[in-house]
Amino acid sequence: MEKRSGSSYYWFWLLLQILLINVLGLHCQPPPDSTSFISIDCGIGDGTSYVDNTTGLTYVSDDAYIDLGKDYTIGSTYLSSFRLQLTTLRSFPNSTRSCYTLRPVVQYYKYLVRAYFLYGNYDGLHKANTINPLEFDVYIDVNMLMTMSIQNESYTYRAEALIVAVVNSSVSICLVNTGNGVPFISSLELRRIDSSLYTLVNDSFYLQVFARRNLGATQTIRYPTDPYDRIWTELTNAPYWTNINTTRPIEYFTNDEYRVPVAVMQTAVTPSGVGGVTDIAFHWDFADTGFRNNQFYINLYFSEFDALLPNQSRAVDIFLNGEIARADYAPPYLLADSLYSIDPLNPNDTYLWEIKPNDSFNLPPILNALEIFSPMHLENVTTNERDVDAINAIKAQYKVKKQWTGDPCSPVEYRWAGLNCSYISEPPSITAVNLSYSELTGEISPSFSELSAINYLDLSYNNLTGMIPDVLGKLSQLKVLYLMQTNIDKTIPPSLSRRVNDQLLQIIFDNAPPPSPPPSSNNKTIVIVISVIGGCFVLIMAVVLVWWCIWKRHPGSVPNPGKRHLEEKNSLYDTPNPPQPHSLTTNPHVMRFSYTQLIGITNNFAKKIGKGGFGVVLHGCLENGKQVAVKLNSQSSPQGEKQFGAEVQNLTRIHHKNLVELIGYCIHGEGLALVYEYMAQGSLHDHLIGYETMALLLNNSCK
Ligand SMILES: *[C@@H]1O[C@H](CO)[C@@H](O)[C@H](O)[C@H]1NC(C)=O
Ligand SMILES: *[C@@H]1O[C@H](CO)[C@@H](O)[C@H](O)[C@H]1NC(C)=O
Ligand SMILES: *[C@@H]1O[C@H](CO)[C@@H](O)[C@H](O)[C@H]1NC(C)=O
Ligand SMILES: *[C@@H]1O[C@H](CO)[C@@H](O)[C@H](O)[C@H]1NC(C)=O
Repeated sequence: MEKRSGSSYYWFWLLLQILLINVLGLHCQPPPDSTSFISIDCGIGDGTSYVDNTTGLTYVSDDAYIDLGKDYTIGSTYLSSFRLQLTTLRSFPNSTRSCYTLRPVVQYYKYLVRAYFLYGNYDGLHKANTINPLEFDVYIDVNMLMTMSIQNESYTYRAEALIVAVVNSSVSICLVNTGNGVPFISSLELRRIDSSLYTLVNDSFYLQVFARRNLGATQTIRYPTDPYDRIWTELTNAPYWTNINTTRPIEYFTNDEYRVPVAVMQTAVTPSGVGGVTDIAFHWDFADTGFRNNQFYINLYFSEFDALLPNQSRAVDIFLNGEIARADYAPPYLLADSLYSIDPLNPNDTYLWEIKPNDSFNLPPILNALEIFSPMHLENVTTNERDVDAINAIKAQYKVKKQWTGDPCSPVEYRWAGLNCSYISEPPSITAVNLSYSELTGEISPSFSELSAINYLDLSYNNLTGMIPDVLGKLSQLKVLYLMQTNIDKTIPPSLSRRVNDQLLQIIFDNAPPPSPPPSSNNKTIVIVISVIGGCFVLIMAVVLVWWCIWKRHPGSVPNPGKRHLEEKNSLYDTPNPPQPHSLTTNPHVMRFSYTQLIGITNNFAKKIGKGGFGVVLHGCLENGKQVAVKLNSQSSPQGEKQFGAEVQNLTRIHHKNLVELIGYCIHGEGLALVYEYMAQGSLHDHLIGYETMALLLNNSCK
């Protein structure tokens, strides 16, 4: 009795979850913590585990997550050089697709998933080298993440992505043998992250992590300093850069969606002056990344360590391959700030970034951290959940000796042996199951009745006993049930006999099907009544839970001591909808002004409100009375008018959350003016014109 009520309680909550997430689109998520992490050291003894020294996290054996493959240890010459997680591995010589099913996860929660691969000549065959790399594909659920190309037997390779769990309760990581060597894996990690982080990532779009760097640091930072266990690696051997750091606390903007650990933000690089270099430059080549597509996203993280004097500025222009990607940016003082792309960068073979002071009197540029990603669009859809659950229950009940791992139908080329699927409508569904000659024992599983789209079911040549379950009557599409050479009782249950009589269903025993007993049963009404009552109850509870969620999420109820001031100040930036990218072609709001209009707007350049690296900043008024800030580039430039147009477009390519909206621009001869939305109260602070002009901004108005 205890047990029973416990399980119905569970189903009840599960139902609520489904209802809330699917119907109401609400996610009442507890904050992530390490108990929701999954840390697997592949290839250690079944059932064993240990606590990792660096992170304090417990790594467990992989046997609970996969039932394929064989354990190995890397070659003895490598053993002492690598951390424990990398010294053992599991290899998959006999399966085309081998999947780890990581659970529990919560559908629609955001996760970081990371796999490590160290070949270490585990098989003594020296299979990994540059000329003949050992290659296999890595999938997340049913979509390919990357081709893992192992070119050096003593290198650690990594596959990492930020994802949203799309399958109910699990995430699968699959290794696919593509004929270029035996897939293997050393370690696998799953970390929950707050859903408010990395808002670009959703259930149809993942980010593959290419780089995550802690600049100016001498050591790697991960869990527990980073509660999400992102690994921020230091960069050594950069002669043009000097490391700088601060011990002062660094705050976050309320709408900060990256939460780069303070310890990471407290270090930065700045030009060392070696060779007269005054900018920060770095690059990567597409060919070296091993990624499938030449598309990248970048996040640059900045924080100013010094309280600048009014006549000081650290404003920079940021260039990608010589084209300006962001003009006149100055990092805010002791605040974690980010510049990030929300569209993929233009494809290139090389991505060369230069962060240059935009005035020779400026302080040298700084850069605290960076992340680089590649997009992963989810093209394949997972099989419908009910079918997945049912076929997994069948697999578990009979301990099916087939290589049934990962998704049963998707992608089509790795569909489970013995299944047929329909892909006509999404998600795919199972249309036929052939488990003949599969050494099944016991009774026919009632789970078959959940495969609602099946046309035929072949269970012949198995040692099956008992009766045909009455619940198979639910299978309205079932046309043939093969039960040859089984020990199944030949009585046809009432739920099926009608369709057998109408010749809509054939049940094939060794001989012709026997006559069926008279149809009966009217406990259907009871079922309906129970469902209705249950449904109402669930709905009421859902409403209560929604209310509770909303109440819980109310910001007023979350104490946040010590940051009130900041939050109040920044709440001005908190837009309910995230800002959208704007470019000249897609955003009709960015206007081109004539020079005459510009004179009108600025009242003949009357009111100077500041000076940035870009040039002077003027106060202005549009015809509709809206206040604007006009940034004027007075310096003559070698660029022609056409290129200025491109420059304006580029200014919008790298998006900055705290930047006010670009309203328009004016190209006049060699000069360029940018017209921005003007925000009074100094709320604009550094992003447009720097702290030094804040006071000036306060007393302007349009009449
Ligand atoms: C997911 O993100 C991609 C890229 O940002 C976007 O194009 C797409 O519309 C998003 N999809 C959903 C369902 O939000
Ligand atoms: C900046 O101002 C300080 C005093 O406020 C002065 O000592 C310094 O020389 C000035 N620097 C420049 C470059 O003008
Ligand atoms: C099921 O598979 C067996 C062996 O693979 C085959 O002989 C049989 O014809 C299949 N059943 C159906 C209904 O196709
Ligand atoms: C079939 O299963 C029954 C019990 O489930 C068992 O007693 C019997 O030995 C099995 N027969 C064969 C041929 O495996």
